[in-house]
Amino acid sequence: MPASHKILECVEKSSWIRKMFEEGILRKKKYGPENVFDFSLGNPNLEPPPSFNRVLNEMVNDTRPGLHGYMPNAGFVETRQSVAGYLNKSNRPNFTAEEIVMTVGAGGGLNIVLKTILNPGEEVIIPSPYFVEYNFYLDNHQGVPQIVSTKSDFSIDCEVIQEAITEKTRAVLINSPNNPTGKVYGEDELKELGSILSHYTKKFGSPIYLISDEPYRKIIYDGVSVPSIFDVYNESLVVTSFSKDLSLAGERIGYVAANPDMSDKKSVLAGLVLCNRILGYVNAPALMQRVVSDLLEKSVEISTYKKKRDMICDSLASFGYDFIKPEGTFYVFPRTPVEDDVAFVTALQDENILTVPGSGFGGPGHFRIAYCVSDDVINGSLPGFERVMKKYRG
Ligand SMILES: Cc1ncc(COP(=O)(O)O)c(C=O)c1O
Repeated sequence: MPASHKILECVEKSSWIRKMFEEGILRKKKYGPENVFDFSLGNPNLEPPPSFNRVLNEMVNDTRPGLHGYMPNAGFVETRQSVAGYLNKSNRPNFTAEEIVMTVGAGGGLNIVLKTILNPGEEVIIPSPYFVEYNFYLDNHQGVPQIVSTKSDFSIDCEVIQEAITEKTRAVLINSPNNPTGKVYGEDELKELGSILSHYTKKFGSPIYLISDEPYRKIIYDGVSVPSIFDVYNESLVVTSFSKDLSLAGERIGYVAANPDMSDKKSVLAGLVLCNRILGYVNAPALMQRVVSDLLEKSVEISTYKKKRDMICDSLASFGYDFIKPEGTFYVFPRTPVEDDVAFVTALQDENILTVPGSGFGGPGHFRIAYCVSDDVINGSLPGFERVMKKYRG
C-alpha cells in the first residue's frame, strides 16, 4: 500500500468536495459544460482588479538585485511595515512589522499558528459549521478539535464555548465572515468571548488564544462591519489572505498578525517565524509579497458578489428554501427539506447542480452553495433548484 493508513483515511474523510469536483468533470463531459451548474468550490470567479496587473507588471520589470532570493523567514520588512500601517487604520493596538508574518495563504498561516502554540493533545474549540480543512490542520500539529454548536442564526454561542473549555484548551478558532454560513460575528458576542477567555487565561495561568481566520473580511454586504478581535482580547491572532478579496487563491499569499499586546509575544513570534520555515514554505512567495504590499486597500468588486447573492437568495426564497441570508463571503447554507442532506444533494446532482452536503462542514441538514460563479451558472441552475424543492415539498 503506497500511502499510509492515516492519509488514506484522510483522503476518504475529505472526499465530499473532491467527489463533487470529479462528478463535475464527468458531467461536463457528458452533458456539456454549459449544462452543468457547479457550486461546489470556493474558487473566486472574478479576475483580480486591474490594479493587480498594473502593480504586477511594475514588480516584474524591477531588475534590482536580490528581489527573488531568500529573505527573512517572516517576509520582506517593507511589506510587513505596509501591512502594519494598514492594520493601524482600523485597530486599537499599534502594529509594527515585528507582529506581521507573511504566509503561504491563510492555510499556511493557520498551520504556523497551530504548530507554534499546540502541545500534543491540546484542544482547539471550533464553532460549527466550519471550514473542513481545520481538522486536518489540527491533526498536522497533534491538536484535538472540540467542535461546538452555534446558535440557530449561526452566531457564536459563548455559553457553549465556555462549557467546552478545559485545562487542555489552547485556543478558540473562529472564522468570520464564515465559510460555509456567510455569518459575520457581532461586536457584543466577540466582547463576551474575549472576557470568557480572559477569565480562563487568568484561572489556568496560561493563555487561551483566540485565532480569527478572516480571508473573507472584505467580502461583506448591506453595510455590515467585521469587528476587530484585537480590540476585545489581547491573546489574539488574525490569519488572513488575499485569496478571496483579490482573487489570488492560486498565488498563495496571506499573513498572520499577532496582537501587539499579547503576553508571550516574543516566543509566539519566534515560533511563527521558525514554523514558516520548517513546514517547508521557507517564506511566502517573494513577488506576491511585493505586489500585495501596494494593494492592501484594494479588492475585487464586492457589489458583483452582492448581486449574485441577491440573485440566488431571492430565487431560493421564492422556491421555498429556508436559509439565513449571508452577510458576507460567497456562500449560502440553506436547510435541506429532509434530514438526509446527502440525499438532497444527490437529488440536486440529478439536475446537474453540484453543491456540498452540510455534513461535510459539521452542519448536517444543510447544504452549501458557493455562488462565486458566473451569472449564467446561477440563472441556468434555478429551474433545477425549483424542481428539486417541489419534489420534496410537493
Ligand atoms: C475559512 C477559510 N479559511 C482558510 C481558507 C484557506 O485560504 P487560502 O487559500 O488563503 O489558504 C479558506 C479557503 O477556502 C477558507 O474558506
